[in-house]
Amino acid sequence: METQVIQVKKIAGALGAEIQGIDLREPITDEIFTILHDALIEHQVIFFRNQNITPAQHKALAQRFGKLQTHPAYPHVKDYPEISILENTKENPSKIELWHHDMTFKLNPPLGSILLARHVPEAGGDTLFSSMSAAYEALSDKWQHFLSGLTAVHDFAHGFKESLAEPGGRERLKQALIDNPPVEHPVIRTHPVSGKKGIFVNELFTRNIAGMKERESRAILQFLFEHVTTPEFTCRFKWEPDSIAFWDNRITQHKPVNDYFPQYRCMHRIVIEGDRPR
Ligand code: SIN
Repeated sequence: METQVIQVKKIAGALGAEIQGIDLREPITDEIFTILHDALIEHQVIFFRNQNITPAQHKALAQRFGKLQTHPAYPHVKDYPEISILENTKENPSKIELWHHDMTFKLNPPLGSILLARHVPEAGGDTLFSSMSAAYEALSDKWQHFLSGLTAVHDFAHGFKESLAEPGGRERLKQALIDNPPVEHPVIRTHPVSGKKGIFVNELFTRNIAGMKERESRAILQFLFEHVTTPEFTCRFKWEPDSIAFWDNRITQHKPVNDYFPQYRCMHRIVIEGDRPR
């Protein structure tokens, strides 16, 4: 049998590495799991090419990292409630315009997400990622100290306001609203494995800083939302069919680039439950 050499190649300065030499259709052995886990912690987002995996293999890979979370608003693959379909057509352009961590409206937001490209446009539709530890480390000591004492409110209704405003939107998302009341998380969280500190507010789901006047909160959040998009903290991934991005949601944000309409793009995403941010 041919032995593949496993290579981990960085794609940018702050975060991101492409992993070659691993076939994700094969069972994930303990040895492979350790390589993937360590690469995820070190590089914060890892990428794979040419992984024509089935939904069962996608799920098996994610389950090695923890319990899976379902999404309250997205459709899912038949028989796989854990695999959300993120599909965009001319009639249904993407509503995800803003930088975000996934699902911070949960008390235990995801550890990470594994996004698999099923159909990609000929050009465009890349995804941008940003390192929240790089963003934190670039702040002055005074700002780091000030932000470390704060908590912020994250809200499903804030993130899905466009969907809620659609005809029938409130009715469709009624249960999701009941199940996901606003939650508070620290503005700076400590990664439970690497111990790195990172900014943990995002423009999609963070509504306000707790205990502050609206103007004060808005000014701080506006600064942070812009700061995290600094190009030096980011990397950009160009998708091909069967590419995978696996990001550590505790320490990165991401944003799809919606520049391909009216072309079609279809992604399958699994999110792995994380711990309570501290
Ligand atoms: C997401 O925001 O989780 C999906 C990103 C993408 O479709 O590129």
